[in-house]
Amino acid sequence: MTFPKLHLVHILLLILSFSTMKVKSQNNKASKNHKHQVDSLLNKMTLKEKVGQMVQYSGGWDLTGPAKSKNNKLKKEQISNGLVGSMLNVTSVEQVREAQKLAIKKSRLKIPMLFGYDVIHGYQTMFPVPLAEAASWNLELMKKTAEASAEEATAAGINWTFAPMVDISQDARWGRIMESAGEDPYLNTQVALAKMNGYQGDDLSDPQTMAATAKHFAGYGFIIGGREYNSVNIGEFELHNTILPPFKALAINGVATFMNSFSDMDGIPATASHRLQTEILKEKWGFNGFIVSDWDSIGELEEHGVAENSADAARIAVNAGNDMDMQSNAYAEHLVKLVQDGKVSEKRINDAVSRILNQKFQLGLFDDPYKYCDTTREQEVVYSKKLQKLAYEAALESIVLLKNDDQILPIANEKKSIALIGPLADDKNTPLGNWRGRAKKNSAVSVLEGLKNKLPKTTELTYHKGVDFIKGGESFMTPLQINQKDDSKIQEAVEIAKNNDQVILVVGESAFQSGEGRSQADISLPGLQKQLVKSVYQANPNIIMVLMNGRPMDISWSADHIPAILETWHLGSQAGNAIADVLLGNYNPSGKLPVTFPRNSAQEPLYYNHKNTGRPKANANEVIYSHYNDVKDGPLFPFGFGLSYTSFEYGDISLNKDSFFKGGEIIAEINITNTGKRKGEEVVQLYIRDLVASITRPVKELKDFKKIKLNAGETKTLQFSITEKDIEFYTINRKWESEPGEFKLMIGGHSKDLKTASFNFTTD
Ligand code: NOJ
Repeated sequence: MTFPKLHLVHILLLILSFSTMKVKSQNNKASKNHKHQVDSLLNKMTLKEKVGQMVQYSGGWDLTGPAKSKNNKLKKEQISNGLVGSMLNVTSVEQVREAQKLAIKKSRLKIPMLFGYDVIHGYQTMFPVPLAEAASWNLELMKKTAEASAEEATAAGINWTFAPMVDISQDARWGRIMESAGEDPYLNTQVALAKMNGYQGDDLSDPQTMAATAKHFAGYGFIIGGREYNSVNIGEFELHNTILPPFKALAINGVATFMNSFSDMDGIPATASHRLQTEILKEKWGFNGFIVSDWDSIGELEEHGVAENSADAARIAVNAGNDMDMQSNAYAEHLVKLVQDGKVSEKRINDAVSRILNQKFQLGLFDDPYKYCDTTREQEVVYSKKLQKLAYEAALESIVLLKNDDQILPIANEKKSIALIGPLADDKNTPLGNWRGRAKKNSAVSVLEGLKNKLPKTTELTYHKGVDFIKGGESFMTPLQINQKDDSKIQEAVEIAKNNDQVILVVGESAFQSGEGRSQADISLPGLQKQLVKSVYQANPNIIMVLMNGRPMDISWSADHIPAILETWHLGSQAGNAIADVLLGNYNPSGKLPVTFPRNSAQEPLYYNHKNTGRPKANANEVIYSHYNDVKDGPLFPFGFGLSYTSFEYGDISLNKDSFFKGGEIIAEINITNTGKRKGEEVVQLYIRDLVASITRPVKELKDFKKIKLNAGETKTLQFSITEKDIEFYTINRKWESEPGEFKLMIGGHSKDLKTASFNFTTD
């Protein structure tokens, strides 16, 4: 190999491009800097080849957005000429090898490509959707499922996942809430780190780990009205205090890549935002990975009305800090000329390409571009028994018991006959959820199958679908017809309900009702399901409702009437087995809601960590406070809520002192007792309220939690340490800092049932 001579200006540009990055400590051991190798390769590259590294195309057969570049022949030609840095949606060892071979065998510099894919809750084995899994509050488990997803996806050729999504999601109308860890910044941050560590491991060059992506930077979860792709209008303080924390944690802990957002915030599309991408992410936080656009989000700058044409869009995006172009063609078509015309500096290109190449070195792709292309490993790992076992364990822990009047659950052994009713009861597809990677259609264990697997032979089980509520929407982009009108079979279901001891009703949302492009104005039970629930209830009120859904739903009528409700989300491949085990008491449910459930769709966005306002409720007999006239105040089920088959009692909080200084800490201690008759798990949650501050602060904010196991009758004493970092926020000084004053401390089993204490923080 011959190395072209380095030009002095070139060297200076390179030095400059690295010196503009204020690299801070990178805690994730997977993150390394390969500056020397990157520089020497960069020096051999033509401008065209550099721009090529900034181009990402989708394989044509698994689209996750509107296709712009369908021409596979042209893509292959470009890969062969070294003009494509990465592909997405190319899956399986065979397909990845074929594409990689073009880059390695045919291109001049033989730079391997990255293969990205939406491994959101598994590759072919489906773990619970992220919102469901967050309900486990088990960070170790979430790390394990990310590790397992990486193991499975890398066995199928993939080396980069577009996960975790860390958009704080307060609005249940937004379909993508199912991809998030819910409404709370602290929980989201903890989950994000667990996920990143699971995907990336300690060493990205290990062929069982993959690069992760923090997305969507930033604000997507705050689209107005929860209407997909809408604008965001939030202020600077909300941005810093609510939206940015999980992103910042991932950036400073070594996440490999960021993806920006489709949305515009206060007039500036995220893809065009220099402030977000360059000033905050790269300069302030010292992020040294690269930023990929979202699907055609560069092209969409034209639709947003901030770019005149595709060339203009490329110029704006690259100058704002966006490094790789997913699928818009704008970089491929215009970047070279933009540099030649002096509208984009080569320094910026070098910076972007260095970041991309650095990730390729980290993954070890230059040592072996086919390291993820082992067919034997693919056969052994994909959908293996080991993965199924973990999917089952994760499903168990993600289930939340919302209601259990008269301990109707778990189902008593003496029940001799069970009517299993509902459109989702024998559904093997819905539990797979949206963003299901390469999951095989209808591969989940249905509730009917789960019950057949687990019920004693002496129990008679009769199944009836009741209604169909949905048609279409069988894949990622196709529209749904939600409100099917045929109620002719409801009466048959009612008759079955009458003739059985126990009814299990399985209702909710279909898989593709949540996810991208799946916002809903009405989040109550769709179609004729409400009618089905009411009719069955009249015939036999002894009902356990099993809810399947990707978002919080308005189930107010059911919550008032149905004695037991089990939130089972879209639980993944092993859904039915896990649900059956919870119904039958083989597992004691331990999940807690990571999102608030409303009483009515129109209350959305509804979230526990809201501001107090100038008019909170003061007097029961007056209306002049912040509320709706026509809906009861507050949530149907609050954030953090979830029952168990046992019960827990909290003692009072005791503090080792009532105030602390900078650098100090307060220890809060609390006793929790299992007062029921069986062992169980409890998520003990700690919240803080800053009573007076320079800006308005939430009425409470989650700051810590511990998931503990308690035997019947057992008491455990838990200690929590509170330090300055727990009270810091983005203050009126536009700095992340603490303010002295009085704070309320709250500990309990959910956000509405808390023991309280107070403490002071002093600076003098
Ligand atoms: C668009 C989605 O917004 C993003 O999350 C996803 O990773 C890309 N499409 C690729 O499928």
